[in-house]
This record gives sequence, C-alpha cells and structure tokens, in this order.
Amino acid sequence: MTSTIGPSAPHFEPIEPAAAGCDLYAVIGNPIAHSKSPFIHARFAEQTGERIEYRRVLAPVDGFVDVVRAFVAAGGRGLNVTVPFKLEAHAFADRLSPRAAAAGAVNTLRFDADGSYGDNTDGVGLVADIERNQGVRLAGARVLLLGAGGAARGAVLPILERSPCLLTVANRTGEKALALVEQFAAAARKADCALLGGAPATIDAAPYDVVINATAGSLAAALPECDDRAFGANTLAYDMMYGAQPTVFMQHARSLGAKASDGLGMLVEQAAESFLIWRGVRPDSAAVLAQLRAMLAASA
Ligand SMILES: NC(=O)c1ccc[n+]([C@@H]2O[C@H](COP(=O)([O-])OP(=O)(O)OC[C@H]3O[C@@H](n4cnc5c(N)ncnc54)[C@H](OP(=O)(O)O)[C@@H]3O)[C@@H](O)[C@H]2O)c1
Repeated sequence: MTSTIGPSAPHFEPIEPAAAGCDLYAVIGNPIAHSKSPFIHARFAEQTGERIEYRRVLAPVDGFVDVVRAFVAAGGRGLNVTVPFKLEAHAFADRLSPRAAAAGAVNTLRFDADGSYGDNTDGVGLVADIERNQGVRLAGARVLLLGAGGAARGAVLPILERSPCLLTVANRTGEKALALVEQFAAAARKADCALLGGAPATIDAAPYDVVINATAGSLAAALPECDDRAFGANTLAYDMMYGAQPTVFMQHARSLGAKASDGLGMLVEQAAESFLIWRGVRPDSAAVLAQLRAMLAASA
C-alpha cells in the first residue's frame, strides 16, 4: 500500500496585508506577546506622520524563514527580529550592514526591490542611550563590557567607534571574550583603544567610567562576577535588561556608590534607528522613552 504526502498546511497564523495606504512592519520572535515594539513604533508613526501598520508576529521556533516569506508575500516592508531568531535573520539577509556582519546577528530587516537588507541596531541603540540620554561620553572613557553573547558582540563595534581609551570584555566563559578581542583587534587599533578581554580576572581593579552588563544574568536575578573596585562614584553601571524594578546588578552598583541605568532607553533607541532605516526619518525617542518609563512605573 502506498501513501501520498501532500503539501503540508502552514503551521503559523496567516499574515493579512496592511490596511490601504499603510506599509506593513512587525516584530518577529518566540515568545512575542510581551514585546513593547508595537507601542514604540505606533508612537514614532504618530510623531512623524508615517503611515505604517506595526504588528507582533509569533513564528514557530523551526519556522522563521517560512514566516518571513509569508510576511513579504503579504507586502511586509520590514521586521524587527528578537529572540531566538537574530542569527537566522543574519543568515537570511541578502545584504548586511558592516555592524550586522560584525555582530553576526540581525535585529532589523528591510525588504525592497533589491531583496532583504539586514542591520543590527542594538549596539548603536546602547551607545545612543549612554551618550544622549545618560549624558556620558564614551570618547576617551574606560569601558567594561560584561558578557560575550549576542548582545555583547553587537555592542563592541559601536562602542569602539566612539573611541574609548580602554574596552575590557569580561565573560564567565573567558574564551568567548578572548574571541571577541581577536575579532575586533583591527577596529580597536583604528579607534586607538586598548581592547582587553577574557575571564572576570581580566577586569581592572580601578573604577571604569561605564560598566555594561550584557550578560543574561539579570533574567535570573544573578549578579555576574565583577571586581567591586570597577565601580566608583563616577561610574555609570548600565544593565541591558529592564523591568519595573532595578535589577540586582543596578542595586549592587548603587550600593558601591555608582550611578545605574537599565536598558529601557536602549530598547527605544534601537527602535528609533530601525525606524530611520525603514522610513528615512528619525523619530523623537526621548518622548517615547518617557511614556514607556511612566507605564513601567505604573505597573510596579
Ligand atoms: N535593552 C535591549 O534593547 C536589549 C537588546 C538585546 C539584549 N538585551 C539583554 O541583554 C542580555 C544578554 O542577551 P544576549 O542575547 O547576549 O544573550 P546570550 O547570547 O544568551 O548571552 C548570554 C551571556 O550572558 C552570560 N551569562 C548568562 N548567565 C550568566 C550568569 N549567571 N553570570 C554571568 N554571566 C552569565 C553568558 O556567559 P557564558 O558565555 O559563560 O555562557 C553570555 O556571555 C539579556 O538580558 C537581554 O535581555 C537587551
């Protein structure tokens, strides 16, 4: 007896075209229900008068490419990409920005007549938040980056482009930090920046200007290993994670006399950079950050 296997039905929700006169954008991930990106981009569209419709798209963990193709077939013009698909988006893109190529990850896809263009705006979002919103200049600064995962890898080049005098990359698994130091050695020389890295023992026993927590530790309320002497009264301790309450990393840094910030501003700034890539207009991120901050405080 033989059996015939026909084409299987798509295992994701169909994607409807945007309303007439609107261009379609979305954030794709799994899970995705928590994403604040639709709120952020709706505010950007109101501010700038851009006619866009921005949705959340849940893709099965094994179905990223199928969902992206369906999105493009429905007229989709661009996607923000979040966990766990940033590496797949990097592999998918026909063309990459230099910073996406360096990060090995894509968080922004743009679809046009030439195919798909992949960029990574996480690192520039981080730098914009530190410099513009926190008022800390990275030029000539001593910077410590904790972690060597996707977020850290995306941050190294945008940080180096601001010409700090020292960038130390320290990670629980030291080899991964060492690999980043090797990968970005030429960019560090160009920036005239000393780039060091390895296990947490690599951390200088003197205050840094900026200490960035790019580990996933805060998700589990875990403090990454870090010499307390890295924190001083003029240190900005920056956690990429955000929430209604200060993270354990922020609390620890404050207990050592440092200033501390979460990563909500990074989220808004990376979104503003995506909006610019898609629409050619830079929205006012400060107003939207203030709104989001108030919403988070109200939910606390
Ligand atoms: N605000 C934003 O817009 C934004 C954007 C992107 C990411 N993020 C945040 O950035 C963080 C990192 O994300 P990712 O994508 O880079 O994750 P990832 O690729 O999974 O990397 C995780 C990193 O954290 C380290 N780590 C995990 N648990 C740790 C612990 N308990 N102690 C010390 N180190 C630990 C890992 O070290 P090993 O190598 O030793 O495993 C690795 O370096 C997450 O909290 C994420 O939410 C925020």
